[in-house]
Amino acid sequence: MNLPFAPSPVDTIADGITDRTARGIAAAVGRMITDGTLAIGDRLPTVRDLAAVLGVSPTTVSEAWQSLAAVGAIDARGRQGTFVRQPTGPSTPRRYRRVTEGPGHFALDLSTGTPDPALLPDLGPVIARVSRQSLTSSYLDHPVLPELEAHLRSDWPFPPEELTVVDGAMDALDRVASMVVRLGDRVVVEQPAFPPLLDLLDLLGADVIGVPLDHEGMRVAELSAAVALGVRAVFLQPRAQNPTGVTYTERRAKQLAAALAKSDAIIVEDDHSGDIASGSLVSLGAYLPHRTVHIRSYSKSHGPDLRLAAVGGARDVVSGAINRRLLGPGWSSRILQAVLLEMLDHAPTIQAVATARSEYARRRSAVTAVLDAEGVVYTGTDGINLWMQVADERSALITLAAQGIGAAPGEPFMVQPDVASLRVTVGLIPSNLERIAKVLADAAGTVPTRAGQR
Ligand SMILES: Cc1ncc(COP(=O)(O)O)c(C=O)c1O
Repeated sequence: MNLPFAPSPVDTIADGITDRTARGIAAAVGRMITDGTLAIGDRLPTVRDLAAVLGVSPTTVSEAWQSLAAVGAIDARGRQGTFVRQPTGPSTPRRYRRVTEGPGHFALDLSTGTPDPALLPDLGPVIARVSRQSLTSSYLDHPVLPELEAHLRSDWPFPPEELTVVDGAMDALDRVASMVVRLGDRVVVEQPAFPPLLDLLDLLGADVIGVPLDHEGMRVAELSAAVALGVRAVFLQPRAQNPTGVTYTERRAKQLAAALAKSDAIIVEDDHSGDIASGSLVSLGAYLPHRTVHIRSYSKSHGPDLRLAAVGGARDVVSGAINRRLLGPGWSSRILQAVLLEMLDHAPTIQAVATARSEYARRRSAVTAVLDAEGVVYTGTDGINLWMQVADERSALITLAAQGIGAAPGEPFMVQPDVASLRVTVGLIPSNLERIAKVLADAAGTVPTRAGQR
């Protein structure tokens, strides 16, 4: 007889769990919810019963239940038991908010990761040239202006099966991740990674693995180890990685593609810095075009308020996102698309982006020359950010704040705990580079404050 609240058989659940850590149990149960082994409303076995069958402590199972509850996948109803529920996820982007939670009134705020407004191209002349007529005849029009699509395709790092334009790289990551990632899916990201991406993957209930970077990109051995476990998606930033400033080499792209060739993982590349990066753009799409989705943002090069990014690559994923978006905004403003199209062919704009690129490189190398001389450990060979090791994160932030300088704490960027670090947007330092670099070096070496001391 089927009792209304009979728990799901403990053995069925235990059989699906190979990794008996709290994280492994949570991920496995998450996968069972996703693939339908456990249905919404099913009652889970008690912590004690499952712990006994798995041969782990009840605390381990209880921790797993807590993380599933945190993403809204299960619901503890006191004595009635614990039940599978429709996942909703946490509502606060914890990491993202921490990056920007400083006092917010620094004389020089290097915490933001944003481009220097003074180095963005002037939109005025371009806007004046854009047609004043409505560019939309039907809500079901193709979402990209045909001329813009032709331009983007001619400049894409591999022939995309499908291409569209959305409202910035973060919008693209949201749409692609929501298409691809299901509760409990194993997903690889860079360690350290972009905090909103980590928040988003938490929201989706992914089991996130951070693969460390070296100066050529994501490390191959660690990626291969993750792939051996079965990975649904890999998220990476091919150039001027935020926060480390690493730009992937062609050699590394090829090695990573080889490591991923036997898996069926979707590769999501976030070229968030676009043409303000000095390094050349590589893409795993050159090797795995049917499984790569490449995103290019125009925020850093042409202005964050254009709110535009292009997404192109694997047909299933990109057309899935296009179709899903029809039930939301449908398309990104064609007026803004027309502005971007004008800018891509407008000589003064092209010149302004090139000037910004070399100015960011100049600022970065003036700072790193001082950091090198002071023996500070950092990465940052491209883009607007540096990732700088510090003796103690909090003390370093306080030392900088005392000098009127803001920087981003490193912790929100980390998948797993790592050496204390700060992200410093050195691209925002217009002048006094050596003096400010010296302040950064002093902060890096600051010894930890005693408990209770501010
Ligand atoms: C790695 C990364 N991805 C995405 C974004 C968001 O870009 P967009 O302004 O295009 O949404 C940023 C912004 O700084 C970023 O650093």
